[in-house]
Amino acid sequence: MAKKITMKITDLAYKISTKELGNLEKDLIDLYYRELFEKQLYTKQCHLFETEIRGVFNHLIEQEEEHSFLLKIILSNAGIEVNELLDIKNLKQYANICDTIKYDINQEKLSAQSYEKTINRTNSKKLKQLLGHILTEEYKHIGVLQAYLSER
Ligand SMILES: [Fe+2]
Ligand SMILES: [Fe+2]
Repeated sequence: MAKKITMKITDLAYKISTKELGNLEKDLIDLYYRELFEKQLYTKQCHLFETEIRGVFNHLIEQEEEHSFLLKIILSNAGIEVNELLDIKNLKQYANICDTIKYDINQEKLSAQSYEKTINRTNSKKLKQLLGHILTEEYKHIGVLQAYLSER
């Protein structure tokens, strides 16, 4: 798990102290669960559609797992316990791949907004840098999904 994350960004996560979280504990817990949600979303969708989209979903699953791993490091260091499993009930299911991807893009946008909000609220440079790293990848997820949609 999370082998591909560069050591540097993992190191950064370990260096963020409880004090640096300020009053953003709840925001970070929410971000963590959003990552679990996205990971499970793509894991479930992966089985619904044929071949070519699976590569995209698998890439996204891997990245959401890395994101949740980074957030879990920060939370664990602060003594905050979080569940590792989340079971999405009532997951929206669309009959076709385009509607599914449009839904996913909206979810990615919601995640990006949550990261932007938290980045703006923290005074910690390290936390800004770490969340900024994840945010950049969320923007890329939006781009990957939009590119797939436009090719159809
Ligand atoms: Fe993510
Ligand atoms: Fe994402």
